[in-house]
Amino acid sequence: MELDLEKDFADRAYQLLVSLVTPRPIALVTTISADGKVNAAPFSFFNVMGANPPICAFAPSDRENGVPKDTALNVRATHEFVVNLVDEKIAEAMNQCAASLPFGENELMRAGLTAAPCSVVKPPRIVEAPASLECVEWGTLQIGGNRMVIGLIKRIHLRDELFDAEKKRIVTEKFFPIGRMASPHWYCKTSDRFEMKRPD
Ligand SMILES: Cc1cc2nc3c(=O)[nH]c(=O)nc-3n(C[C@H](O)[C@H](O)[C@H](O)COP(=O)(O)O)c2cc1C
Repeated sequence: MELDLEKDFADRAYQLLVSLVTPRPIALVTTISADGKVNAAPFSFFNVMGANPPICAFAPSDRENGVPKDTALNVRATHEFVVNLVDEKIAEAMNQCAASLPFGENELMRAGLTAAPCSVVKPPRIVEAPASLECVEWGTLQIGGNRMVIGLIKRIHLRDELFDAEKKRIVTEKFFPIGRMASPHWYCKTSDRFEMKRPD
């Protein structure tokens, strides 16, 4: 089967690709508006893109009426954001944050999540998140109708139990991020793992 995304299946590209390229990690992104109001929203068009310097990217689209989502407006205005990673414990709360609240209304409080100050950026991190990445916008690419925000990652905050200070490693056995599967409602757990050594 071959599907032509430039012709017959152009209008199915989103549905097809988000069902195929799975699981995707989820960034619960916190931002603040120019007047300091906190916003939180999940994005699964997200990944870390490199480590030298440490960068990540996520893609907040426009709403159906053509207006950018609050997260995109806030990054444009303040150039900072925090990526809070999502595990099973905060899966429900993350989903609550996807509700379309009026601009300036705080999704965090509604979802029962707690904000804590960051070290180098103004938006807060989420205390209940297993890990949070403080990011400064490097730039935003507009590719057709897609908007890709690229951030320089300045700090990592972690639940204490997730860091082995002696080895300077993440304790992956205790980290259970969830993954986004087919849109809109499917997810996966990461508790079923296997190891495969690379050939020499
Ligand atoms: C798991 C999950 C992943 C999502 N990923 C994206 C995404 O990658 N891009 C996007 O524009 N919207 C995505 N959404 C929808 C936004 O979270 C939603 O539109 C939200 O209301 C935007 O909030 P904001 O206006 O406060 O930025 C996702 C929703 C969920 C539940």
